[in-house]
Amino acid sequence: MCGIIGYIGSKPAVPILLDGLRRLEYRGYDSAGVATIADGKIEVRKRIGRIANLAELIQQSPPAGHVGISHTRWATHGGVTDENAHPHFDQSGKLTICHNGVIENYATLREQLVEEGHVFKSQTDTEVLAHLIGKAYDAAGGKASKARLVEAVRAALKQVVGTYGIVVLHLDVPDCIVGARRGSPLVLGVGTGENFFASDVSAIVAHTREAVYLKDFDIAVVESDRFEITSLLGGASGYEVSKVEFSEEDVSRGDYPHYMLKEIFEQPATILDAMRGRLSREEATAKLGGLGMTPHELRAVDRIILTGCGTASHAAMCGEYIIEALAHVPVEVEFASEFRYRNLPLPKDTLVFCISQSGETADTLAALRESQRKGLRTLGVCNNVGSTIARESDGGVYMHAGPEIGVAATKSFTSQVAILTLIALLLGRIRNMSTTTGLRIIDELEALPDKVRRILALNDHIKSVAEKYANATAMMFLGRQFNYPIALEGALKMKEISYIHASGHPSAELKHGVIALITPELPSVFIAPDDSVLEKNISNIEEVKARKGPIIAIGTEGCTKLERVADDFIGIPACPDYLSPILTSIPLQLLAYHTAVALGCDVDKPRNLAKSVTVE
Ligand code: M6R
Repeated sequence: MCGIIGYIGSKPAVPILLDGLRRLEYRGYDSAGVATIADGKIEVRKRIGRIANLAELIQQSPPAGHVGISHTRWATHGGVTDENAHPHFDQSGKLTICHNGVIENYATLREQLVEEGHVFKSQTDTEVLAHLIGKAYDAAGGKASKARLVEAVRAALKQVVGTYGIVVLHLDVPDCIVGARRGSPLVLGVGTGENFFASDVSAIVAHTREAVYLKDFDIAVVESDRFEITSLLGGASGYEVSKVEFSEEDVSRGDYPHYMLKEIFEQPATILDAMRGRLSREEATAKLGGLGMTPHELRAVDRIILTGCGTASHAAMCGEYIIEALAHVPVEVEFASEFRYRNLPLPKDTLVFCISQSGETADTLAALRESQRKGLRTLGVCNNVGSTIARESDGGVYMHAGPEIGVAATKSFTSQVAILTLIALLLGRIRNMSTTTGLRIIDELEALPDKVRRILALNDHIKSVAEKYANATAMMFLGRQFNYPIALEGALKMKEISYIHASGHPSAELKHGVIALITPELPSVFIAPDDSVLEKNISNIEEVKARKGPIIAIGTEGCTKLERVADDFIGIPACPDYLSPILTSIPLQLLAYHTAVALGCDVDKPRNLAKSVTVE
């Protein structure tokens, strides 16, 4: 949530900052701003709305300077106004800061500062932090130095309750940027004769692929040709320079009109990448070395908790059905936001999986820490290498799906479900699953990318279905068993990018209430592949038809009995029940995408949303 980029080097800072902000825009897009130091002055430009608005302002009067910080905002404290946009100043006007996160005790701190005569120009918690650091710097007195600025940052952060990823500039020491993090990601990009800060490596990958993923409580002071990292409590902090896995090309949109469409079309490759090198025909199982667990330890697991938020929680629900069906290990799915505050009975052989594309979702991270506090082994299923969840978990499985920029999660979902299927295969084989069954599952998994390609070839047909129903004011998504979570996911995709109200339900629940909503104006999307509950789904469709509700059916190609009852039919290749969620989710992603496009919505940056929710 929110994006930060900082630059120090020999090049003009503003073009680099603006380019980085554009790449980070998916993290928040209420307002944006930059600050540079040039000719003994801090130059600030900020404006509400998209980065394009800021770029326009900058074009009218471009700030000079070879050092600068910038921010794209997703509002938490204070409305969307120019004043509330970052960067913010301290009382002296010599210090400026960009901040991601939430300062929970900002109201108390602000009151104290106001009593001391500080004057605030915004309603943000960030400005309080700026004043606090500036006050500590001024109080220290003495010679201007980087060490004095670092100490001031340290002193201020010790008074703060909450989360932050910050970058700080001070006019007294114009040849450095200070960055610090706690609970909000911050990466230091290591260049040659230039260095960067960013909340996400995608912002700097065009300039460097060497990165230090800062840890909570790190404070880094960065000059153009060196940097030093210390801990909030004092003393040096260990770090590692990692190679960024993806390139600039991976974060570009290519010829696609939207990132979301590009990411949907990447799925044959990303599903393959999630499985690559992880299937052993010899042993008829999955090899997941990153879990760091011996067969003996895996055999001892008697309960699994899968947790995550949003789309990741829907992947977790698919995982529940798949793991229970293939491995017979009891699974519970908990929203991470609920899990963190619940007092669930957690027997010691419970294994917790935290599922998160970004690896930075605040609630999922809190669930991870809570389960670790309770002494449970906690594993991550993440996409972002080096993310906090990936680093703090006891092991895990990377998705290797490449950067997902579209705010609506698509390829990460199918990768998550593919990985949960590998986990099910591994756990099943350690228990009662035969070699023959294991091999059959591997065959089916390996056939997936081609089947996905066949679904993507239906894009034009799905577009025409989407356009037919785009004016609906609401939609219902219904599925059973493995495809109940897909009903939820289909509804979420539709809501978040097209703003059409949609709800997902188990088909059989219709009669228990929601059937009351059926009218000729309410389309129902049935996810009904040729599985053990197809006939039941068809009966539910008949009930809706009897009430003149239009039916869009996602079913197995050639399923004439479904085609006959549906107004519109989208056929997917046949597959076993447990793999159908991966296939059925894809037409629903396309349905939501084309509906949103038909309605003129901003598909990649839906209103009010941000890609990675790093605040509670
Ligand atoms: O990065 P994460 O996977 O932890 O994100 C979880 C959710 O915030 C995310 O899936 C969200 O629901 C998406 N906007 C859904 O498309």
